[in-house]
Amino acid sequence: MNADFTKSLVILIVSTAVVASFSILVWVLPNLLRTPELVAESQAKPLTAIEVAGRDIYISEGCHVCHTQMVRPLEPETKRNGRANQESDDIYEFPNLWGSKRTGPDLTNLGRKYSDQWHEIHLIDPRRVIPTSIMPAYPWLFQQVLSGDDITGKMETLRALGVPYTEDEIANARLQVRGKTKGEALIRYLQSLGVDTAEEGL
Ligand code: HEC
Repeated sequence: MNADFTKSLVILIVSTAVVASFSILVWVLPNLLRTPELVAESQAKPLTAIEVAGRDIYISEGCHVCHTQMVRPLEPETKRNGRANQESDDIYEFPNLWGSKRTGPDLTNLGRKYSDQWHEIHLIDPRRVIPTSIMPAYPWLFQQVLSGDDITGKMETLRALGVPYTEDEIANARLQVRGKTKGEALIRYLQSLGVDTAEEGL
């Protein structure tokens, strides 16, 4: 037999499908099945309404393009960035913000590192606190005020994805967010990073 398998489109398609379904079987399925176990062992706490609003600003301003939230379990990284990420840390992260490029420092364990005031000055003009910083300035974040109109829908969506928000938390969400500046919400989010898992140690 003389068949040249490298030229057969059918074999190419079938073998791609086989390889792809094998990856799903090995990588995706076990993680889906392990979810209750992960929830049980997780120290992660759901974000409050104002933190959810801040996280959305973090995403819309593209902070995740320059900052990772992924400390790998390697000594140089844990020395610099603190506790390494565990699989169970991210059960309420939709989508995850691990990032892939480190123009700025990793922010996984940022909460409590600086005061709110430091963050405000740094976001308005990074050069005022770090003279050599190449981070962009975000002064408008402290001028634009949030209406909170979309926060209830966001929290309900998160609940549908598995974040255990109570009726009360969802009902009070709008009040918590309304009238706050985008900068205030963002700082609440930044101050929450890694705080729930910090007690576990390095
Ligand atoms: C163009 C890349 C870039 C973008 C976009 C960016 N940053 Fe940065 N960021 C940096 C660099 C570089 C540093 C280190 C110098 C400094 O502290 O200003 C930094 C530092 C920081 C720090 C201090 C971290 C530490 O541990 O000292 C925080 C907090 C921070 N950025 C938050 C943000 C937030 C929030 C956003 C989005 C609103 C953002 N960054 C967007 C590059 C960026």
